Formats: sequence, C-alpha cells, structure tokens
Amino acid sequence: MIIAVDGPTASGKGTIARALAEHFGLPVLDTGLLYRAVGYQTQLNHGDPDDSADALAACDFPDTLLGDPALRYESTGGLASRVSIHPAVRKALYQRQVDFANQPGGAVLDGRDIGTVIAPHADAKLFVTASAEERTRRRHAEMLARGVAVTYDAVLANIHARDARDTGRADAPLLCADDALLLDNSDMDIGETIAAAIAFVEQKVGRPA
Ligand code: C5P
Repeated sequence: MIIAVDGPTASGKGTIARALAEHFGLPVLDTGLLYRAVGYQTQLNHGDPDDSADALAACDFPDTLLGDPALRYESTGGLASRVSIHPAVRKALYQRQVDFANQPGGAVLDGRDIGTVIAPHADAKLFVTASAEERTRRRHAEMLARGVAVTYDAVLANIHARDARDTGRADAPLLCADDALLLDNSDMDIGETIAAAIAFVEQKVGRPA
C-alpha cells in the first residue's frame, strides 16, 4: 500500500505521515529532507541556490548529510524551497523517491508532489493543510521552544514566501490531487488530525488484518 501525504510547510504532514507509517507498519520517507539536503549542500559548496547548475551539483550530497541537524533549520527550509524550483533538481531526486514508493509492501511518503508526480497511483492520498496564521502560530511556538528568538511576523512572512514559491513554481507545484482527501486541521489538534487520516486510509483500502 502506498500512502501519499502532501501539504504546505508547518501543516503537520510530517507528523501525520509518521503516525500513518507506524499504524500501518510501513516505512516512511520525508521527501522534504532530500530538498533540504540539496539546499544545504549548495550552501556548503558556496553555490547559489537560485542557479540551476549549482543546485544540480549539490544533488550529489553524501547520505550522511541526511542526519545533520542543520537540515531542520528554518533557514535550510528556505534554501530547499529555492533549489526545489529547478526542474533539473526535481529530476535528479525523482527516481530515489519513486523507488522508495514502489518498494515491496509499500510506503508512506510526505512532500509536495507525492500524490501528483511521485506516486500518482498511490492507494490513499491526503492533502494536509491549515491557515497560514495557524501554521505560523505552531511554527513560532516550536521555534521559541527550541530557543530561537524570532517574531510571529517574521515567521508569517517566511511561511507566505515558502507557500508562494511552492505553489507558484512551474514544475510540480504544490497542489491537492483530484483524488486526495483535503484535511484542513486549522481547528483540529494533532490527535484528531491523525485519527481522521487513519480513518480515511482504512476506509480507502480496508482495515489492516
Ligand atoms: O517539507 P519541508 O518543509 O521539509 O520541505 C522543504 C522544501 O522542499 C519545501 O518548501 C519545498 O519547496 C521543497 N519540497 C518539494 N517537493 C517535495 C518536498 C519538499 O519541492 N516533495
């Protein structure tokens, strides 16, 4: 069984993908981490994330980079959204994601274009979202808890910029697949959102034995 979980930044899609993977006993891939690795490697190479050739050269990042805590930084997310615009970068990361999705037994993948490009044949697709204000509130609280001094307005501006880049790019923009469940969790807590996601997948593919 393949489960595709797409959505904008700070929508909770990563948490939902991990919960679904645990519930259904499937491996999970956070595809954003691959784009974050490319963005970060571009910086390590002193390259320009807006330059397609520089970003493509960084697609050769070592696998050990995927464990680097710097990939989780908000600034790395910004770099990721810049390098992810380049079709050459998306092409370079494509096969790795497709192979993960199509492994025997299935998988859960979360990202922006899983249900539309990477696994259009997925058995269940979710598009997880929440208002920009609610996503900002969550991301801001998370950053303050980590000791990062940042204002709500700065986080909101960053979320708007990320959303604009992710939805506005020509190649594989962020959009809800026609056959995806739109799960707006602006007024739901994470437990309710996970329960709704599990119920949707079970109804789509049948309960696990
Ligand atoms: O999901 P996360 O916030 O870690 O992703 C970082 C960035 O990587 C996103 O803003 C998006 O631009 C890009 N991305 C993408 N396609 C994916 C996953 C992430 O373009 N499947």
